[in-house]
Amino acid sequence: MHKPKCMMRTAILNLLFIACLTTTQVKAQSSSNAPQWAKETPEQKEKRMAWWRHDRFGMFIHWGLYAVPARHEWVQQMEQRSTEEYKERYFDLFDPDLYNPAEWAAYAKKAGMKYVVITARHHEGFSLWDTQVSDYKAPNTPAKRDLIKPFVEACRAAGLKVGFYYSLIDWHHPDFTVDGTHALRNNQEARESNGKRDMNKYRQFMKDQITELLTDYGKIDLLFYDFSYPGKDGKGHEDWDSEGLLQLTKKLQPEIIVNDRLDLNEGDWGWDYRTPEQFMPNKWPEENGKRVAWETCQTFSGSWGYHRDENTWKSTNQLIAMLIEVVSKGGNLLLNVGPTARGYFDDRAVDRLEGMGKWMKYNSRSIYGCTAAPDDFKTPDNCFLTYNPDTKRLYVHLLQWPFKTLYLPGFKGKVKYAQFLHDGSEIKYTSRSEPGSHMTITAGTEDLIVDLPVVKPNTEIPVIELILE
Ligand code: GLC
Repeated sequence: MHKPKCMMRTAILNLLFIACLTTTQVKAQSSSNAPQWAKETPEQKEKRMAWWRHDRFGMFIHWGLYAVPARHEWVQQMEQRSTEEYKERYFDLFDPDLYNPAEWAAYAKKAGMKYVVITARHHEGFSLWDTQVSDYKAPNTPAKRDLIKPFVEACRAAGLKVGFYYSLIDWHHPDFTVDGTHALRNNQEARESNGKRDMNKYRQFMKDQITELLTDYGKIDLLFYDFSYPGKDGKGHEDWDSEGLLQLTKKLQPEIIVNDRLDLNEGDWGWDYRTPEQFMPNKWPEENGKRVAWETCQTFSGSWGYHRDENTWKSTNQLIAMLIEVVSKGGNLLLNVGPTARGYFDDRAVDRLEGMGKWMKYNSRSIYGCTAAPDDFKTPDNCFLTYNPDTKRLYVHLLQWPFKTLYLPGFKGKVKYAQFLHDGSEIKYTSRSEPGSHMTITAGTEDLIVDLPVVKPNTEIPVIELILE
């Protein structure tokens, strides 16, 4: 009786083994079809993205012809202007006589930003560099020069990493078919011209431009492709040849980090990080139950390009809180400046950047190299927590200054020492368990009770640094 059972088990095991082999072979086959760069291991990917994860805070720069009308970078689309009209009106007025990229880099650096991503070309189709495949470029305006080159040099000199934003959309290119988001979407004649527009040529044009950007400016750390809108009257990865673009990108700059807007899946042909835009995720974004790398891009006031009359500017306090919240959820913040047509940063932007810099000067230790706190640390009232896994320090950001006492729920036995981050001064704490009366504290036995000065220290959002046991 035993033998046949045993044999059956062996047969089943053999079958399982063969099944396993087949799946491994299939997997091996599919990954051998994948390009060389796609074969990197999770550890290699982690290493490639280490600087980005560490740095957490970057500057986005939206600059193009749209700085002249100064009412949103989508102005051509919103006002449904043809390229001829738009170009005729603004091209010869683009004269950034006060452009000083060293000053831009200095602002970014002082604000505590570690990398900068500039719009080499936005949806309007105007290139900031001396591209050889289009006349619609800065050197042909009164600017009379390649504006990207000195920018890249200034960033490098300041020790900032450099990224390019590159628009997949182009409302200027004659071969880009008119679709539902095009500036001429409601123009019958333009729609009818689609038969003559050749997306093959447009795809080649993008590849030529990407080749220029990724060959002529030294090491480029990041590429922000923008954006896909697949479906009826839209465009997706087939329209861009996203696989081809990505392949080219990685071939020219193997270490580069690429965002997620090419309409590709993560994996062999995938992306490096997610890009929630203009909103705050309510938790660390996940994909198939796994936390993913992410960066939210945000504006000061709503528009990305310089917008003179927009008055919904976020306060410095709100922006600092935003940065902290992002890091507390394991992400990065790419905060945008839209320089003016004359090439300088608007006062309102400078005010915010300086305010953030003032805070970062004393508190950046709770940002760089930090991430979400381990799950066993419960967030105290009105606070955000960040954590540095290398130093094992936990940072409590007090968004609302409490009166004398801060309760750290369940922290008893986990903390060795506490201090303010901005001045390194000791903070005392106790744990008590006496029953509450009108004069005693009501904390639980496992809580820590932190004694704080009545007056809030002179830093926008005070941070308590906890050295853990
Ligand atoms: C959007 C907009 C664009 C902006 C970008 C920033 O896709 O089209 O104007 O450049 O987001 O992420």
